[in-house]
Order: sequence, then structure tokens, then C-alpha cells
Amino acid sequence: MDIRGHMPTIAMLWTASLCVLWASSVLGAPVNTERQKLLLISFDGFRWDYDRDVDTPNLDQMARDGVKALYASPPYLTLTSPTHFTLLTGRYIENHGVIHNMWFNTTSGEKKPYYQTQFVNDWWDNGTLPIWITAQKQGLKAGSLHFPGTASSYQGLVAMVQEVEPLLYNYKNETAWRENTDKVMGWFRDQNVDFVSMYFGEPDGTGHKYGPDSNERREMVKQVDRTVGYIRDSAEQHGLNRHLNIIITSDHGMSTIYRNGLVEEITLSKIPGFSFGDLSFHLVDYGPSGMLLPKPGKLEVVYKALKGAHPHLHVYKKEEMPAHLHFAKNDRILPIVLWADPGYVINGYFPVQFNKGEHGFDNQEMDMKVLFRAVGPAFHKNLTVEPFETVNIYPLMCHILGIQPEVNDGHLNATKHMLVTSIPTSGEFISG
Ligand SMILES: *[C@@H]1O[C@H](CO)[C@@H](O)[C@H](O)[C@H]1NC(C)=O
Ligand SMILES: *[C@@H]1O[C@H](CO)[C@@H](O)[C@H](O)[C@H]1NC(C)=O
Ligand SMILES: *[C@@H]1O[C@H](CO)[C@@H](O)[C@H](O)[C@H]1NC(C)=O
Ligand SMILES: *[C@@H]1O[C@H](CO)[C@@H](O)[C@H](O)[C@H]1NC(C)=O
Ligand SMILES: *[C@@H]1O[C@H](CO)[C@@H](O)[C@H](O)[C@H]1NC(C)=O
Ligand SMILES: [Zn+2]
Repeated sequence: MDIRGHMPTIAMLWTASLCVLWASSVLGAPVNTERQKLLLISFDGFRWDYDRDVDTPNLDQMARDGVKALYASPPYLTLTSPTHFTLLTGRYIENHGVIHNMWFNTTSGEKKPYYQTQFVNDWWDNGTLPIWITAQKQGLKAGSLHFPGTASSYQGLVAMVQEVEPLLYNYKNETAWRENTDKVMGWFRDQNVDFVSMYFGEPDGTGHKYGPDSNERREMVKQVDRTVGYIRDSAEQHGLNRHLNIIITSDHGMSTIYRNGLVEEITLSKIPGFSFGDLSFHLVDYGPSGMLLPKPGKLEVVYKALKGAHPHLHVYKKEEMPAHLHFAKNDRILPIVLWADPGYVINGYFPVQFNKGEHGFDNQEMDMKVLFRAVGPAFHKNLTVEPFETVNIYPLMCHILGIQPEVNDGHLNATKHMLVTSIPTSGEFISG
């Protein structure tokens, strides 16, 4: 399938003009008539400060060669699929609709786990297009490797070059990470792909199992750092350095969980006045967050029983959710939303969660913040910038690729100081 054949004329004219402007804005430099490429990488669960207690020579080198943010703030709910879809769309979770890792049906009570939910088109394709599709509609070629959302189609379209991991995939195999890296660099060089999103399932898995303060997590961060070095070497060996920009970021952080004996755990069934019999559907036992659908007429009973029942449990009616969370205005969000403070998870009938680390907390918690690094011809060198929200990565990526973004919740203002030249934004160009 060659989508370029269907590229509208306006986009062609615009692309050509953009190149001219780009070339003329780099005074004295050789004329750059080629479009810039972009690789977006997510290392799942890489908390913003994971480079502080481990030697990370490759991440440090990347910061000297490019841009480093102190940290970046993911959207709430700080779960993998919702926050990754924000990276791909620039929309808050209530606006893109991928509100949980799990697809669920409140009528039948059915739930699908993370991996199976990747294949539920209706869950992902809920009115917001990921950047692959937008780029392809404007004549570019996009690819994705293992990135959440890759397996679904959007308005019937998918990323042209893609790989979805099999069920029971080993997400921590460093040899496979290197093979995948070379594969993606091959897509850029041999298939002239413009944009690729690439996903690594660590250090999330290790952070959950051993906790963010463990030696195991520190060892995994060393593995990530070696991989960052490998990625940059591979880009160079594939002759991509002049055109390829690389952004490395993450979906959420990780926080230590305390168990019985150390804290009073949150177990809903133990709360006086609360009964699972008053609910027609619930989504709990999933880290520190939960959602409840009370039976008709039972909303107040459930709400009153839970509100204030545990000092570390937050209970909100959907319409009273704090505005900063941007997690209310979507039909998929259930009438009662729960979340716990760091250290705690929300159990249903009895404790069934034994991870030493979790995410899903309020995105204002520092433990939920993520890393952000960027390097390449579009970016300043050796520049440290202030924190920003990850919704702003999408307009930045569209700008670098020279494509018109979809409606989104980010703004180029938040990130454009990272860029070496001010290419006119597509909006400015078209209206001018
Ligand atoms: C949800 O379950 C109900 C009852 O089984 C069914 O009628 C409905 O079609 C399901 N909805 C979806 C979106 O699967
Ligand atoms: C989004 O999903 C909901 C069901 O969860 C559905 O009612 C709605 O029509 C969908 N919207 C779009 C634009 O696909
Ligand atoms: C790691 O990946 C390599 C390359 O794909 C494979 O040969 C090897 O069997 C894998 N090892 C494990 C432990 O999964
Ligand atoms: C990078 O920036 C730091 C702090 O602004 C400065 O001290 C250092 O000399 C710079 N390094 C290079 C190689 O420009
Ligand atoms: C972006 O920055 C410009 C110039 O500082 C300002 O005029 C504009 O209002 C800003 N837009 C947003 C959405 O912050
Ligand atoms: Zn994750």
C-alpha cells in the first residue's frame, strides 16, 4: 500500500514549500531538502529520577548532545495504555477515550487484560487519530514496534510498517532489544519511513516486582542505558544522524507499596456501610485506582460509605473530580472514581495484589513523573528545560515532521524552545 499516491495536492505544495523555508532558515548551512525523521521511544515506567542513583553514561551523553527536561508529567490515569495514547494523540485521557488498560463491559461484567485489549479496535478507535495515521494521511510513512495501540486500526487504517509482540513476550531480553533497534533503523533507512514509535516494557516490570528502590531496578536502568547507547550507535551506523531525531520518554513512574503490618491496607469489603451488592460493576484490584458503577438508586449509599472511610483513599463522584486530573468528561468513566495515596493499593474483597511497586496514582505525585530526552538535528544541544506535560510532545512531533496536527490538548509553546530553528507551524503556514 502506498499512501503517498493518495496525498492531497495541498499537502504536496505545503511539503515542498516547507523544505524551502527550512533550507532558507539555516543560514550558511547546506540546503536541507529532506524532511526530518523522528523516532519516539518509550521505556515503560521510567521514573524521572531513575538516573540519579545509577551510572547512566549514555543518557548523560544524550543530554549533552541534546535536550533534557527536569521531568515530564504524564496525564491521569497513570496507566500504560491511556498515557501512551496521550503521547500518540496529545489529548488528555478523558478526551481520547482509552481510559484504562482493560477493556470492560459494565452490562456483561466482562473484562479483557492489557494484552487482549490491544486488539479491541472499538476501544482504541474512539474518535482520536494517533500520529501514525495523521502522518500517513499527509503523505508520510509511519511505523510502530510494540507501542501500545499498534495492534488496532483507526478509521480502518494502521501504521504502514508495524510489529506487535506475541502473547507471553519476554519484555526484558536485551538481545531482542538490540535486534528490534536494528530493525527499526532498517525501516528508516531501507523503507524511508518518516516516523516510528518504539516501546520497551522495562523498567516497569522490574519496578513492579522488586520495587523502585531495589537493586534489580537499578540493574535494569543500566540495561536501559546500554540500550540508549546502542540505539544511538545503530542510528549512526545506518547513516541516519543527519535527519533522525530521537525522543526518549515514558508513560508513568513507579512508587513503593507498603503491606499489612506497615500500614493499614485499603480493602473495600471491610469498610462499614459499603457492600459489593450495591454495585452493578466494579474495576478494583488494579493498583491504586478504581472505578465503581452503583446499582440504580445506590450512588449516594456507596459514595457516603466510602468517602472519608480511609485516610489514604480518595473518593469522588465523576462530576466532582478535581479539574487537574482531566479524568471525568467521558462516558466510559464510571460514576465513582477512587484512588489511593502513594504507598497504598485498592483491594476489593481481600488483598490480592503483591507488587512491591505500583503506578496509577495522581499525576501530581513526583513518583509518577517521567524522563524526557531528545536529540537530533531539530534540537538544541546541552540544553536543560523546565518540566512540561506529556500532552505537549504530540504538537512538538507534528512540528518536527512538518504535518498539520489534529485537535489536541497540548501546545507547541511548551516545547518549542527546545528547537534550533523556528520552522513555521503548519497552521501559520497554511493561514499565511
Ligand atoms: C456488553 O454486554 C451486553 C450484554 O451481554 C451486550 O448486549 C453488549 O452488546 C455488550 N457491548 C459490547 C460493546 O460488547
Ligand atoms: C466511543 O465509545 C463509546 C462507547 O464506549 C461510544 O458510545 C461512542 O460512540 C464512541 N465514539 C466514537 C467517536 O467512536
Ligand atoms: C532473547 O532474544 C534472543 C534474540 O531474539 C533469543 O535468541 C533468545 O532466546 C532470547 N532469550 C530469552 C531468555 O528469552
Ligand atoms: C553544558 O551545559 C552546562 C551547563 O549549562 C555547562 O556547564 C557545560 O560546559 C556545557 N557543556 C558543553 C559541552 O557545552
Ligand atoms: C504561546 O506563546 C505566544 C507568545 O508568547 C502567546 O502569544 C500565546 O498566547 C501562547 N499560546 C498559548 C496557547 O499558550
Ligand atoms: Zn506502563
